[in-house]
Amino acid sequence: MSKEAHDRHAGRTGLHSPEGGSGVTTKYVLPEAEIPTHWYNVLADMPHRPAPPLHPATKQPVGPDALTPIFPLALIEQEVSTERWIPVPEEVREIYSLWRPTPLYRARRLEAALGTPAHIYYKYEGVSPAGSHKPNTAVAQAYYNRQQGIRRLATETGAGQWGSALSLACRFFGLECTVYMVRVSYEQKPYRRIMMESWGAEVIPSPSERTEAGRRILAEDPDSLGSLGIAISEAVEDAAGRADTNYSLGSVLNHVLLHQTVIGLEAKKQMALAGEYPDVVIGCHGGGSNFGGLALPFAADRFTGRQVRLLAVEPAACPSLTKGRVAYDFGDTVGMTPLLRMHTLGHTFAPPGIHAGGLRYHGAAPIITQLVEEGIVEARAYPQRAVFEAALQFARTEGILPAPESAHAVRAAVDEALEAREAGEPRVILFNLSGHGHFDLAAYDAFNHGRLEDYEYPAAAVDRALAAIAPLQP
Ligand SMILES: Cc1ncc(COP(=O)(O)O)c(C=O)c1O
Repeated sequence: MSKEAHDRHAGRTGLHSPEGGSGVTTKYVLPEAEIPTHWYNVLADMPHRPAPPLHPATKQPVGPDALTPIFPLALIEQEVSTERWIPVPEEVREIYSLWRPTPLYRARRLEAALGTPAHIYYKYEGVSPAGSHKPNTAVAQAYYNRQQGIRRLATETGAGQWGSALSLACRFFGLECTVYMVRVSYEQKPYRRIMMESWGAEVIPSPSERTEAGRRILAEDPDSLGSLGIAISEAVEDAAGRADTNYSLGSVLNHVLLHQTVIGLEAKKQMALAGEYPDVVIGCHGGGSNFGGLALPFAADRFTGRQVRLLAVEPAACPSLTKGRVAYDFGDTVGMTPLLRMHTLGHTFAPPGIHAGGLRYHGAAPIITQLVEEGIVEARAYPQRAVFEAALQFARTEGILPAPESAHAVRAAVDEALEAREAGEPRVILFNLSGHGHFDLAAYDAFNHGRLEDYEYPAAAVDRALAAIAPLQP
């Protein structure tokens, strides 16, 4: 950025992001006073709001009463609120200050390696104590649950990112935390379990004998490896059965995307410091929370006519946005949650064992579904080898080893930069590096030694799972 541009923006915002010794800026950092005071609620501005969740028996919209056994009132209110700005409680902001504002980097070394005229920026959420964006909502959810006198939270986790985020948040607010962890990860990836236990959580391999849902799955298949959908069923059942316990979900729901908008709100200020505005904003997509967190504050500009592309990136082995159907479906495998209208591969679909465990989810956030249907959000899918190739290129230029989930966004950012090179045109690319991959080294080992496989898109399994949801439609 030119000195003039720097001074202009610093003057306007009152912020300074000092240039490095080389005279160029690599990191755009904000002071703690710039941690957002409000979350941005995209429901206020969307041309059409997502269809409401339905009760599976009556097929009528679920009211707050149906949700109070597992969620605190404040979160139920946020789920349906259409207020544009929702205040971040001071206690939550204080905890955010342990790692927020997160840095925005200009990936100059990656740009040079690619020989691209594009400018690549990434917002790095891996600096949180749990190593991803997930604590942005975990802390808020623990706060509102404690406000309501809840003593314990139950949740699910795949590879362990969300479970560690909630374990940390529960510790900060003096809540007990029980995490149902997908069995295959529990056995193969002990380090996340150890992290959760170190923060004081109880971690149970799922499916388990602890719940009716787990027992039912184990009766059918005693060797079940588990899935996110099964673990959600167990955690919901646990919470619904105890008055002192609520359930907490790490993605998909409106209030989760809302809490994650701190990412995009900070990024907008940081892009202004850099004197640029993105042509394309990219995030990986599991349930939609890190993508939405970065992209929705930019979608606000798109609604008022600004040109900005929004690109969600998913695995080719679990491609809900690019190959799924938009339909009402359960959020879990056993069928305990309300029906959500979303892109889905069918709630009984068990995705292949790709290393991006956080992207192995059959559904999507209803907000993201609506924006994809209206052509406001684009979606793209990649096989995992292509994803790891980009991750390694990123690690070898920028230094950070991305989480396999985040590496999907890296792949897309690299491809956008290569397209700009082919076209000989400038392009400003912003992506979310949603987490680091320090607990995913086995995946890097497999890739480095040629053992990482691509999976065919499991068309027959998806067809079967989609056929099973036909009777759920209103
Ligand atoms: C690092 C990281 N990025 C992305 C995701 C995907 O979730 P979401 O789509 O909600 O951001 C996960 C989920 O666990 C994750 O751990």
